[in-house]
Amino acid sequence: MRMANMPPLMMKPAMPVSLSPSSLPQARERDAVSLREFHINAQAVFVHEDTEGLSAAAAQRVAELAAQAIAARGVFHIALAGGATPRRCYEKLRRLPVDWEHVQVYFGDERCLPAGDAGRNDRMARETLLEHIAIPPDNIHAIPAELGAREAAARYAAMLENAAPLDLVLLGMGEDGHIASLFPGNPATDSKALAVPVFNAPKPPPERVSLGMVTLNAARQRIFLVAGAGKRDALGQMLLGKSLPAACIAAAEWHLDRAALSG
Ligand code: 6PG
Repeated sequence: MRMANMPPLMMKPAMPVSLSPSSLPQARERDAVSLREFHINAQAVFVHEDTEGLSAAAAQRVAELAAQAIAARGVFHIALAGGATPRRCYEKLRRLPVDWEHVQVYFGDERCLPAGDAGRNDRMARETLLEHIAIPPDNIHAIPAELGAREAAARYAAMLENAAPLDLVLLGMGEDGHIASLFPGNPATDSKALAVPVFNAPKPPPERVSLGMVTLNAARQRIFLVAGAGKRDALGQMLLGKSLPAACIAAAEWHLDRAALSG
């Protein structure tokens, strides 16, 4: 099924239901799943057998959206997700035909660690994707998190003023329902800034920089990559209506693996 022809699946059931595999229609890779039970602001939901399937589908979607944006506007602005789940997607994406010269790469969040540190999200993106493609170095807009959260967020917000709206934001979801570095209950999550400093994050390191919720929600498209049993609890809570950061994201395309649903 071509995604472009898909009707929006924005479904909020009157009654919350549990997120058990038996409550979900059987889904094949890249089939749109009409999850009546999905109590999340979803444009479309895809359930993949495993991370490989999820990564292949998401990489393909990025390539498609890049081609569409470049054809329409001559440029594709993407914010990459950090964490571990996107690694395989990036490895697959580097093998797809993308006009990288016309792609501008941003980051959804960064950890305040020295430049080049193995724990940084931009290092992961460079190792899995950016070092393997013909992208001009000036097209890569790292968050200068080594300057500290406040300074880095201010600089990144200024840079984003010229880039907004982003064409695509890739997002992972933490086990507590956080997205980028916007954690439940953290004041950064309510900030109206384009990029926000984050302190006291429960996932190390505690100091981070994140795109603000407004930047994430202003993007033309959002894609979630959510894999593994550890995500089941947060998904379940959102189905019950809990307003976790991931549930505050405007209509998004969700790519899940079965483990995230079945535990
Ligand atoms: C980070 C992230 C964070 C991540 C989620 C999911 O710096 O850790 O950007 O938001 O995307 O925690 O991470 P996993 O994909 O590793 O579960």
